[in-house]
Amino acid sequence: MTARQIRARAFSSALSVADWGGRATRAEVNLDVIAANVRALRRVARSRELMAVVKGDAYGHGAAAVGQIALENGASWLGVYTVGEGVRLRSAGITAPTIVFGPFERGEAADIVRHRLTPAISSLEAGQKLQDAAAGTAVAFHVKIDTGLNRSGIEPAAALPLLESLSRFPALQAQGILTHFACADEPARPENVQQLATFLDVLRVLEGAGHRFAVRHAANTGATLSLPESHLDMVRCGIGVCGYYPSEKVARSTSLRPALSLLTKVTRLHDLPAGAGIGYGHEFVCTRPTRVALAPIGYGDGLPRTLGLGVGRVIVRDRLVPIVGRISMDQITIDVTDILNVRIGDPVTIIGASDDAEHSADDLAAEAGTISYDILCGILPRVPRLYVKDGRLRAG
Ligand SMILES: Cc1ncc(COP(=O)(O)O)c(C=O)c1O
Repeated sequence: MTARQIRARAFSSALSVADWGGRATRAEVNLDVIAANVRALRRVARSRELMAVVKGDAYGHGAAAVGQIALENGASWLGVYTVGEGVRLRSAGITAPTIVFGPFERGEAADIVRHRLTPAISSLEAGQKLQDAAAGTAVAFHVKIDTGLNRSGIEPAAALPLLESLSRFPALQAQGILTHFACADEPARPENVQQLATFLDVLRVLEGAGHRFAVRHAANTGATLSLPESHLDMVRCGIGVCGYYPSEKVARSTSLRPALSLLTKVTRLHDLPAGAGIGYGHEFVCTRPTRVALAPIGYGDGLPRTLGLGVGRVIVRDRLVPIVGRISMDQITIDVTDILNVRIGDPVTIIGASDDAEHSADDLAAEAGTISYDILCGILPRVPRLYVKDGRLRAG
């Protein structure tokens, strides 16, 4: 089998659009591929723990389904950004340790305690909210150090005073300590080793003052693949679990395969003469007699509007062909003039692969001027998620 065919297998469960009985436009997430990606990352991390970062609904793949399969294949932690995301994992029956990276309000502190979520905090105020909500329960937290991303976290010089103050809250238990890299998708950047050195310095100071952390962590997918000295006690992988490398610059020595396909079908075919305008504003005008295929997907499903007017491409009958008119909320128009035998009902692959063509979230992102993360997270809830597990497809 060629590398392309292997990728096509990963991408596609090859279910024909007519088979599942629901909306033709849907995302198929291959959980067998997620499982293989998790096992591959686990091998890279060796004896370290692996956190599957499933915030943003697991980058659009479905947090509960991805979280569950990740835990079954070697992950021992999950990571989310909001308390609500953590509560939804608990409602789905997932009890594994789960970090909440983002800030929380007073009412959410009660949910953190009730659902045994693990907040990443970097202020006394956050500690106070947890203490107030604890009502006799012990609350484990991780402290976040800002070593240079300059976004969130406590500055290194203020870490010890913060820890000293937090240790006066009887309910709070410091379980972990973390930082986050600014440039891990560019392994050669000096900021990576500088941030790690800063983090290790902070750790030395805190440990010297008697503070102990069972879980020290820093590495996202980029650092997991390219900066082994940053693995510490645990690595935190999001995009790698989904099968993507964070950038072209990150080492590809570990095989990761995309797990999500975004699919729809041709619902109308019509022939337009040269000079005809297509779609809103008639901004696209046919320069030749043009066969146009219509497909029911648009920015209301999360397809960026910037992909219209010939910028974005999709796969029809094993060929990459351009989206021509403007993308509207619900529909796209595709130029299929150069493809023989296109029929109504033919699959249209927005993200995925066929035998001879591939169009990944990276490709779509390059066309849209963004990154795979943005494209994947942007697939909206109106797109049904179907899951492949043990080679069989089920509705999400
Ligand atoms: C704190 C933290 N750790 C880990 C990750 C995972 O990053 P990646 O998807 O690049 O693996 C993220 C995602 O942005 C994050 O915010």
